[in-house]
Amino acid sequence: MTYTEKDKNYARYTVTSALPYANGPVHIGHLAGVYVPADIYVRYLRAQGEDVMFIGGSDEHGVPITIKARKEGVTPQDIVDRYHKIIKESFAELGISFDIYSRTSTKEHHETAAEYFDNLYKAGKLIEKTSMQYYDEEARQFLADRYITGTCPHCGNEHAYGDQCEACGTSLNATDLINPKSALSGSKPVLKETKHWFLPLDKDEPWLRQWILEGHKEDWKTNVYGQCKSWIDAGLQPRAVTRDLDWGVKVPLAEAAGKVLYVWFDAPIGYISFTKQLKGNDWEKWWKDKDTKLVHFIGKDNIVFHCIIFPSMLHADGSYILPANVPANEFLNLEGDKISTSRNWAVWLHEYLRDFPGKQDVLRYTLCANAPETKDNDFTWKDFQLKNNSELVAILGNFVNRTLVLTHKFFEGKVPAQGNLTDLDRQTIDEMATYPEKIGRSIEAYRFREALAEMMNLARLGNKYLTETEPWKLFKTDPERTATVLNIALQICGNLAVLCAPFLPFTADKMHRMLNLPAKGWQDAGRADILQEGLAIDKPELLFEQIDDATIEVQVNRLLETKRQNELNAWQPASVKPQVAFDDFGKMDIRVGTVLECSKVPKADKLLQFKLDDGMGGRTIVSGIAKYYPEPEKLVGMQVCFIANFEPRKLKGVVSEGMILSAEDRDGRLVLVTPSQLVASGVNVG
Ligand code: 2FM
Ligand code: ZN
Repeated sequence: MTYTEKDKNYARYTVTSALPYANGPVHIGHLAGVYVPADIYVRYLRAQGEDVMFIGGSDEHGVPITIKARKEGVTPQDIVDRYHKIIKESFAELGISFDIYSRTSTKEHHETAAEYFDNLYKAGKLIEKTSMQYYDEEARQFLADRYITGTCPHCGNEHAYGDQCEACGTSLNATDLINPKSALSGSKPVLKETKHWFLPLDKDEPWLRQWILEGHKEDWKTNVYGQCKSWIDAGLQPRAVTRDLDWGVKVPLAEAAGKVLYVWFDAPIGYISFTKQLKGNDWEKWWKDKDTKLVHFIGKDNIVFHCIIFPSMLHADGSYILPANVPANEFLNLEGDKISTSRNWAVWLHEYLRDFPGKQDVLRYTLCANAPETKDNDFTWKDFQLKNNSELVAILGNFVNRTLVLTHKFFEGKVPAQGNLTDLDRQTIDEMATYPEKIGRSIEAYRFREALAEMMNLARLGNKYLTETEPWKLFKTDPERTATVLNIALQICGNLAVLCAPFLPFTADKMHRMLNLPAKGWQDAGRADILQEGLAIDKPELLFEQIDDATIEVQVNRLLETKRQNELNAWQPASVKPQVAFDDFGKMDIRVGTVLECSKVPKADKLLQFKLDDGMGGRTIVSGIAKYYPEPEKLVGMQVCFIANFEPRKLKGVVSEGMILSAEDRDGRLVLVTPSQLVASGVNVG
């Protein structure tokens, strides 16, 4: 039984989490925005004894997949096979407790999606339109969705896609783009006639307005409600649900050869088809019974698809329930910068699991504590370390460890008798009893950060209680009172084991094992007799370990290296200087010289002093390249180019008679310019 009045009537919950595109692994942005909150929600509902179906899977169609395949010279199937495996395994290792994690390339999904389309088609719910669409004449292909880029007409972002602008979240039609460009060939596309099937969203406006704008003003998050409102207020347009592509679910009409369903038509049907794939399961009760609460966990870029387009598809069919809530999150940044797959600016889940074995809960904790619930938020490795060391280790781990160690020290590891209670004991017990509801209400309102903070407040209550009662000093003089104190501290541990489980399932398991606590439901929490007197407790193991600076430095350095690589990749040659007359160039006297001696200029880190054979009796030139040539003596015998008629200058006491030429590489490194073959010293360059 949950706490929110409205929810008391639901018989069951269908919880979906956005299907990640199988064109790359999952990163912390996906986790903080979608999968960690969704998993906390379903673990909590299950602990409440609710009937829950938690659906996930890979989105294996759509242009992001085919673009990646084309780039790598492999098939789209190769791409989705590779990433589906990585994603599925890493979710499982992080404890994301899907009832099923499937994929949209399965036969069952293709059948369900095609049938869904066919039903709408036969019921006359789709409109057929021949229209002009962008076509790449070089690639001989229509340019659907991400195959076309251009400027967003709403926010001016120059890299908007044909179906969506990721900068402002607006859903677009390719023909809305300003200065469209083919992502295949870079050429300017032409318009060509093609036939497609459309969902007449314009006709849905009245009921959508009523359902969302009037019905969900109070219970949907403001970011979600706001996006829906601006979409509806701007006027809904019919939306094409088919594409001229060869990768996807084939449109089940004879006249539609070479066409597939739009990825955003087939992917959300995945939630339904995956439910069907669970054997022995009456799938319809999860999707068609009005006593089922349907909740979609998504990121903010998916709002219109889950609040407007998918509901319109469900409504058009007529036999489905609509989502009761769509708790979309904002985005998580990494060290102050937008997470980006193409720039490799991310912490990848499978790499985290490799680098931090056994520390799944530390990541879950950090991502929940920093979840971008109401605004974009930032993940930093320093904060990750701080949350582990100062919160998980110092507050939760420390409290549980102290309590268990003292129980072993004074009571042979058995839960001592509760005995007579003081006012402080009663207050502590009463306060403890408020936490299940406090945490539960926050989770039911999708305020997971707040819920997590409350769970930690219970651990803080435990630490405060131990500090005030000092059982480690008490035993000598008052063993009976020590028994009471440790009994209560142990009850708090037992409560924490239940209440931390949605957030920190691995820690909760460990605590259950150590406390010999059989699996308990949420309803058992809050009680001061969750652990029976006399129960034997295992030897305590540490719940969390300190993470040291060196471990964090490895991760920070990896990101610094990525940043350096990205800067190099973004390098462009400087723009060409204004033209000069030939005569002006002729004024420069550039020659080749042979290095006779080369050494560091004393007390000048950057300078090298060259003695050159210039064919005219020799000269000295000072050059600021010492950093790039740490062994200057090795330059002897090399030929360099120098400006022979440069005004002599005194540098650190040495007179420099010219300037040696060097090229500046992308990273700022200076490299001496040298002729490709030996020439006589003193010859002209021009
Ligand atoms: O934005 C994305 O990553 C999509 N693949 C989400 C799809 S959610 C759903 F509807 F399937
Ligand atoms: Zn935009």
